[in-house]
Amino acid sequence: MKYKIGLVGLGNMASSLIEGWTNCKRDGKDIIGFDIKLDRANFVRERFGINIAGNIQEVADAELVILAVKPQDFSSIKIDIPQDTTIVSIMAGVPIKKLEEVFSNSPIIRIMPNLLCSINKSFIPFTCNNKVDQTKKELFISWFSDFGDVSEVKESLMNVMTALNGSGPGFIAYLIEAFSEASVFEGLPYDIALKLTLSIFEGTSAFLRENKISPNSFRLNVTSPGGTTSRGIWALEKAGIKGVIYDMIRLSSERAKELENS
Ligand SMILES: NC(=O)c1ccc[n+]([C@@H]2O[C@H](COP(=O)([O-])OP(=O)(O)OC[C@H]3O[C@@H](n4cnc5c(N)ncnc54)[C@H](OP(=O)(O)O)[C@@H]3O)[C@@H](O)[C@H]2O)c1
Repeated sequence: MKYKIGLVGLGNMASSLIEGWTNCKRDGKDIIGFDIKLDRANFVRERFGINIAGNIQEVADAELVILAVKPQDFSSIKIDIPQDTTIVSIMAGVPIKKLEEVFSNSPIIRIMPNLLCSINKSFIPFTCNNKVDQTKKELFISWFSDFGDVSEVKESLMNVMTALNGSGPGFIAYLIEAFSEASVFEGLPYDIALKLTLSIFEGTSAFLRENKISPNSFRLNVTSPGGTTSRGIWALEKAGIKGVIYDMIRLSSERAKELENS
């Protein structure tokens, strides 16, 4: 095979993968991509130095072929993939069963990454069909562990993974926006408020990870009786923020399920 990675669709998520690989000094010459928008394809070539295919079929000449179009565009993909080539789908809400209807004899791996791949900070949950043998799995892991931890999960968990891992960065950005805006309301200049908010989100995550401490124990440690944290937590409890977050994950998972059935 001529290439290691072939990408169908060169939008936001595909670019994020390529950027992550570039950060790890992967050679753009090993990657080929195709997008129906020529200007988009040329933009990605200029930015990352990958090969651009003149037609979709050229992408099939790769060890891993990644389907990176929107779920609703999946049916527009017309490509013949050699039987032994592994297909990796990043599409939300497209189950392996649906992929097998089109690529009936192929090894298929379904993953749910996020845009943090571009800075090599995305967990990669994956699930695969029974045509993926150990060698193919290892090839996949060798490329995708450039982004972060790679872990096999049951396909039934993919919808909640889509909500948490796929949409999660968007949810966290929303919270960062809210923390910053609320601090501006109390008098902090926006740039300082944003800097502090980013620092507490990053710092708290790093602290929990490095000290292997549960969020609940950490929160109790920093909440002194009658203090400022306790007063703030009361506002969260009164407004039922945990319930809102349960709904956020549930509605988002349900949307992934709807995509599966559409
Ligand atoms: N963005 C995220 O945060 C994220 C996270 C996890 C998973 N995903 C999944 O990643 C996939 C891509 O998302 P995205 O945000 O990168 O979408 P995107 O930016 O719209 O990229 C998809 C690209 O593929 C092109 N395309 C459409 N049909 C094609 C075809 N038949 N052959 C070749 N190219 C084609 C699109 O062109 P047009 O714009 O002209 O259609 C577009 O340039 C989705 O299935 C999504 O569920 C995304």
